[in-house]
Amino acid sequence: MSTPSPTMPPWPAESDHASGWSLVRAAAAAAEAAAAANRPARYALVAATGLLRELAPEEEGGLLAWEPGTGWRCLLPPQDCRQAVADLYLPLCAAHAARPITVAHLGQSLDGFIATGGGDSYYVTGPANILHLHRLRALCDAVVVGAETVLTDNPRLTARLATGPNPLRVVLDPSRRLPATHHVFSDGAASTVRACLAPNAAFTPGAADLVVAERGGRLDLADLVRQLRARGCSRIFIEGGGVTVSAFLQAGLLDRLQVAIASLLIGEGRPALMLPGREPLAHCVRPAARLFRMGEDILYDCDLAASTAAPAAAAPNGQSLQRLF
Ligand SMILES: NC(=O)c1ccc[n+]([C@@H]2O[C@H](COP(=O)([O-])OP(=O)(O)OC[C@H]3O[C@@H](n4cnc5c(N)ncnc54)[C@H](OP(=O)(O)O)[C@@H]3O)[C@@H](O)[C@H]2O)c1
Repeated sequence: MSTPSPTMPPWPAESDHASGWSLVRAAAAAAEAAAAANRPARYALVAATGLLRELAPEEEGGLLAWEPGTGWRCLLPPQDCRQAVADLYLPLCAAHAARPITVAHLGQSLDGFIATGGGDSYYVTGPANILHLHRLRALCDAVVVGAETVLTDNPRLTARLATGPNPLRVVLDPSRRLPATHHVFSDGAASTVRACLAPNAAFTPGAADLVVAERGGRLDLADLVRQLRARGCSRIFIEGGGVTVSAFLQAGLLDRLQVAIASLLIGEGRPALMLPGREPLAHCVRPAARLFRMGEDILYDCDLAASTAAPAAAAPNGQSLQRLF
């Protein structure tokens, strides 16, 4: 077995995961109040309620700190088993109504595909990444997918593998071509809206129409995001597929982009990101990225607000070569 690295700890055991996840959920629930208070504060977790309690200045310790303008900072020591989970999700937990966040995720092969040409994507990435997807759903107020994903996968888009609520399910179906028999429209597990260009008299019982402005013959995704924010969705998760995530990315609507890379070669499949080309290479975007080992996969968690056109001068920890596992 390889030695755990100081910068990329191995994914913790499931029980450790769970206690870290409780802390993450508490941080997400407390963000609105912490932001409204607009002062630096430290917090402890109250086990009985699962909620955070602000510590008085004279009280020692605390698991998390809130810093106005920045968000959550983890006070756990690096060797604490909850640290990796807190570290991964805290940037999302810091979102609140006045500072919302949109995050997208794709699980792709080494050759850049999210499914075979026929649409088979079960499963590109491993169980740790699938659990992560369910956690993203539980943490976010809305999950958005394209019509092809619903047509091909018939997903439920619930958070059933994680502890937490189901998000509002949003399906991009501009011409309302999807039949109402798909799970998201018929299972009643959570609310669903169908983002379309015009409402149809043929009402779908399980999904309200969300009429979105048109832009170049497509849905204006900025208008969609505005409408979801107006419904109180401070955290929006774009789950796929590649066409949908690429459209949000190209429209400049993503704050974070997560790409999980699996050791898999698909060849001639459904592409992950598709963006217009740029010349020269020096003008291409290099998002600031954190790397997480997630089971057998590697997750790139990119902060798109912190993108540059220049390559990093050196690895942040000064190490240019490191075996992960
Ligand atoms: N590995 C992963 O992370 C992952 C995640 C999700 C899905 N998948 C796989 O990916 C495949 C589907 O992905 P995909 O990239 O082919 O398609 P997709 O993104 O799921 O859906 C694309 C469709 O969504 C609608 N759409 C997206 N953006 C729009 C916009 N701005 N305005 C109007 N409509 C918009 C369009 O519907 P119309 O055609 O009706 O115009 C478009 O054709 C499936 O095989 C699924 O299994 C993989």
